[in-house]
Amino acid sequence: MLRRMELSGTAAIISGSASGLGEATARALAAAGSKVVIADVNEDRGKAVAEQTGGVFARTDVCDEDSVKAAVDIAAAQGVPLRVVVNCAGIGWAERTVNRDGSPHSLATYRKVLDINLFGTFNLMRIGAAAVARTDPVNSDGQRGAVINTASIAGIEGQTGQLAYSASKGGIIGMTVPAARDLAAIGVRVNTICPGIIDTPIYGSGPASEEFKAKLAAPVVFPKRMGTAAEFAHVVRFLAENDYMNAEVIRFDGGIRFQPK
Ligand SMILES: NC(=O)c1ccc[n+]([C@@H]2O[C@H](COP(=O)([O-])OP(=O)(O)OC[C@H]3O[C@@H](n4cnc5c(N)ncnc54)[C@H](O)[C@@H]3O)[C@@H](O)[C@H]2O)c1
Repeated sequence: MLRRMELSGTAAIISGSASGLGEATARALAAAGSKVVIADVNEDRGKAVAEQTGGVFARTDVCDEDSVKAAVDIAAAQGVPLRVVVNCAGIGWAERTVNRDGSPHSLATYRKVLDINLFGTFNLMRIGAAAVARTDPVNSDGQRGAVINTASIAGIEGQTGQLAYSASKGGIIGMTVPAARDLAAIGVRVNTICPGIIDTPIYGSGPASEEFKAKLAAPVVFPKRMGTAAEFAHVVRFLAENDYMNAEVIRFDGGIRFQPK
């Protein structure tokens, strides 16, 4: 029988893993036996997650080429093959194309959101996949590993004031098929997850944030609540382990469809 991708005895690098979806992913992959590299700009939280998961923290700015190279080098030097690259680093942003006061959307903030969310994802995907390509294949298919990117349903149907964010996530969705085709030559699969409304620190904390989250999650079809980061991590694990999942963009959203306000 064909040997399939297993997480046990392999390494994984996860950007944005000091918090939220990335953190839950690091915990899930570590629980499945991966040596996890926590690649994040947040040093305090990142070190804590690394300690709790038996992983390694690598201070990483996904926008910076040298920083990502250094983090991937660490992931590739763990004594086990690097097989999984997960992009979870990202930021939200709210600004209209023309704001209520008549001023146009700032070009600098648009660039910043694209830089972190889209260019950052591309940066780790390309450098991470190049390192995975240097490992021995797992089986006779030539399977070496998997890249899992995090877009958003906002990249499919964006909301008011979400132009920059939607553009960044739409870019990640658009890269999925060509990246999967490019990386087929080196035995690396690429899939993208589009989360809906998942309860993480990205929405802040306190009463105003709880109110905002309740409003956002109201149109969820079923189950009638926000998703959890652990549920997201379960999808990442499935995409990493299932050898036939490739070039797919998966909505993970409890059935919600954003409507114009
Ligand atoms: N939570 C949701 O509802 C939701 C929905 C759709 C998509 N997403 C996407 O999922 C991803 C994770 O979001 P989250 O909810 O876990 O947010 P979060 O704020 O909890 O975590 C994001 C992490 O990314 C890190 N980060 C930010 N900029 C970075 C950089 N330049 N380099 C390295 N790390 C950086 C932060 O330090 C943080 O640890 C984001 O891309 C977000 O857009 C989240």
